[in-house]
Amino acid sequence: MRKKIIAGNWKMNNDLNESQSLVSGIISGLGSDDKCEVIVCPPFTSLNEVHSLVKDSPVKLGAQNMFFEESGAYTGEISASMLKSVGCEYVILGHSERRTIFGESDEWINKKIKKAIESGLKVIFCVGETLAQREEGETDAVVKNQIINGLQNVTSENLKTITIAYEPIWAIGTGKTASPAQAQEVHAFIRNLIEEIYSKESAENLIIQYGGSVKPDNAASLLSQPDIDGALVGGACLKPASFLSIIASA
Ligand code: 13P
Repeated sequence: MRKKIIAGNWKMNNDLNESQSLVSGIISGLGSDDKCEVIVCPPFTSLNEVHSLVKDSPVKLGAQNMFFEESGAYTGEISASMLKSVGCEYVILGHSERRTIFGESDEWINKKIKKAIESGLKVIFCVGETLAQREEGETDAVVKNQIINGLQNVTSENLKTITIAYEPIWAIGTGKTASPAQAQEVHAFIRNLIEEIYSKESAENLIIQYGGSVKPDNAASLLSQPDIDGALVGGACLKPASFLSIIASA
C-alpha cells in the first residue's frame, strides 16, 4: 500500500511573513492521522523560518530547485547541502517552469537528481507534455524520454527516494485539469515504464503524484485512481483551507 503524498509548490509566492502565516494555518488545521505525507515547498528565502515552524509537526519541508555543484562561482544558485542545512528533506526537480522558462535540459535535471540523492535529499521529479505534444499523440514518448534521461545512472536503491510527479503542462495554472482517466492512463504508463527499466517491485513502490490545477473539488476523483498516489499542488496550496481540503481528500 503506497502512502499518499500531498505537496504544495508555492512557486514565487509569499514573502517571509506570508510564508509563516500560511504554514501556521496549515499546521493548525491538520488532523493527527498520518495516512498521507504533507510537504510544503516555500521559496528559498522562507525555508529556514518555515522549518522552525514545521519541525515539530508532521509537515515536511521541500525546496523548489537546486544546483548540482557543491559550491563555488555559481551566482544566484543554491546547493543541496545548503538546502539540507535549513531543514529541507525534499527538493522538486525538473518542474516544467524550470524547463521552459529557465531552459533546463534533461541532462541538467539528471545531474541535479543524482546530486540531490547523494546529498540525502528526496526528489520530486516532474515530467509532462505540452498541449501540442498531447494533440500530436506524443504524450507517452515525451514522458518516456524525460524519465529515461532524467534517471540515467539512478539505481533502484536510489529510486526509493524519488517520487515522480506527472504534470501535463497544459493543465498547470490554467484551470484545465487532466480528467481522472487521462491522468490515470499516463500514471499507469509511467509505472509500466519503471517496471521495464527497473523491476516490478520498484514500480509497485513508486509514488506517482499528479499536478496541474488540482483543487478541492477535483482532488478526490483524481486521488481515487489506482495509480495516482498524491498531488503536487500549485495555486490551491496558497490558502490553508484549500490545501487542507485536498489533504483531507487524500
Ligand atoms: P497549479 O496547481 O497552479 O496548476 O500548479 C501545478 C504545479 O505546477 C505544481 O508544481
